[in-house]
Amino acid sequence: MDELVSLCKRRGFIYQTNEIYGGLQGLYDYGPLGVELKNNLKNSWWSSMVYERDDVEGLDSSILTHPHVLKYSGHEETFTDPLVDCKDCKSRWRADHIKDNLCPSCGSDNLTEPRPFNLMFKTNVGPVDDGSNYAYLRPETAQQIFTNFKNIIDSTSRVLPFGIAQMGKAFRNEITPRNFIFRVREFEQMELEFFVEPGTDEVWHEKWVEKRIEWWENQGISKESIQIIDVPKKDLSHYSKKTIDIMYKFPHGVEELEGVANRTDFDIGSHTRHQKDFQIESKVIENEHSVTKLAIQNKKTNEWVIPFVIEPSAGVDRGVLAILNEAYKIEKFDDGKERTLLALKPHLSPIKAAIIPLKRNNDEIVAKALDIKRMLQNLKLGRVLLDNSGNIGKSYRRHDEIGTPMCITVDFQTLDDDTITVRDRDTMKQVRISCGEAPNYFQKNLL
Ligand code: GAP
Repeated sequence: MDELVSLCKRRGFIYQTNEIYGGLQGLYDYGPLGVELKNNLKNSWWSSMVYERDDVEGLDSSILTHPHVLKYSGHEETFTDPLVDCKDCKSRWRADHIKDNLCPSCGSDNLTEPRPFNLMFKTNVGPVDDGSNYAYLRPETAQQIFTNFKNIIDSTSRVLPFGIAQMGKAFRNEITPRNFIFRVREFEQMELEFFVEPGTDEVWHEKWVEKRIEWWENQGISKESIQIIDVPKKDLSHYSKKTIDIMYKFPHGVEELEGVANRTDFDIGSHTRHQKDFQIESKVIENEHSVTKLAIQNKKTNEWVIPFVIEPSAGVDRGVLAILNEAYKIEKFDDGKERTLLALKPHLSPIKAAIIPLKRNNDEIVAKALDIKRMLQNLKLGRVLLDNSGNIGKSYRRHDEIGTPMCITVDFQTLDDDTITVRDRDTMKQVRISCGEAPNYFQKNLL
C-alpha cells in the first residue's frame, strides 16, 4: 500500500486534504490524474447503467437532506457504529475493530462499554442557528432516489421493472477512517435502485450480482481478486432481506467493494403516505409526515403496488483504489533494469496519448506535435497531452507509470514523410504510421 500511496502523491493522483495545515483525517483530494481516472470510472458506470440499458433513468439530487427522510429511512435510529473510549490514552475506536479487548493505541484494557455512535453529519440550514433548522449530509445517495420516485414516474411514465441511477458524494463520520481512500468520511457512491414487482425480486437480485461482477472485470479487476460473500442474517442492514457483498483483495485485506442488496419494499413503503392502504411486507416506521403516495400502478390489474428494490451500491473511491492496486506492477528485465507500470484499461487511463516532440526547441517539430495533439483531442476520447520535456526516455517512463496507453513521437522524419512513431505502453513495441492513419489507430486502440 505504501508504494501505491507514494505514487499517487508523486504523480498527482491523490493528495491528503488540507495537508498544508496538517491535514484532515479521513479526507482526500484527487489531483490532475486522479480526477481523470475517477471521472473515467464514473463515466464507465453511467454508460453501463444508463446508456446501454433501456430500463434506467438518471438523477443528480441534493446532498443536504431533510431530517424526515433519514428518520423514516431508519438512519436516525440505526445508522450507528459501536464506539469505545480508552480511559487511559483517551483514544476512540470502533468496538468491532478492536482485538482482544485491548486499545490499539496504548494496549490498555481500560476501555468503556461500547455505545452507539451515529455516523451522520448534521448541519445548520439558514441564518438562525438555534438547533431546530438542521439537515443531514446524505449518508448514502439512495434516499434521494426514493424521495424522487413519484417525480420520475410522472415525468417518464415508467412501469416496473425500471431503475434510477445516481452517482455522487456521501458523508459518514467514521470513527476510525483508515487504509488510504478505503474508509473515508467523504466519498462517492455509484448507486442503482432497481424497482421490481414483489415476487420477482430474488431473480433480479441474482441477475444484478452477475452483472456487477462482470462490470468490475471489465474495469480490469481480475476474477482471482474478487470474493463473493452472502452477508449473514445477523449482519444485514435493517432494510435488507439478502445482501451479496462483492469483496476485493485490497492491499490491507479482503474487504467490501460493492454491496448488492435486496431492500424489499422497505424504502418506498417507509416514505409513502397512507401506508395502511398497501400491503407492505417489511417492518416500516409509521409515517406521519409524507404528503405523497409512493406506489406504482400495475397497468394490467390497475392495482397499486409498493415495489421491491434491488440495489447495487458501489464506492467510487474503493473502485479507484482497487483499480490502481490491480494495475500497479514493477517489471524486471534481463539486463537488471526495471520499470514501474500502471497497466490500466485504456478507457480508464487519465491520459489517452502523449505527443512527444523529439526536440523541444525545434519550432517545426513542436508545431507538428501540437497539430497532432489537437487532431486527436478533437476526437473527444479523453485527455491528449503535449509532453514537451525534451527527454524521450524519461517521458516513456513517466507515461508507463501513470498508465498512458500510447506515446506518439514526432521527429525529423515526420517533417519529411508525415509519419509518426507510436509506442505501446504494455509491449513497449513501436510502429511507424502515417499521420493520416493516427485517428483510426487511436480510436481502435482506445475503445
Ligand atoms: N445504499 C447502500 C449503502 O450505502 P453501504 O454498504 O453502506 O451501502 C455502499 O455502502 C458502498 O459505499 C460500499 O460498498 C463501499 O464501496 C462504499 N463506502 C461505504 N462507506 C464508505 C467509506 N466510509 N469510505 C469509502 N467508501 C465507502
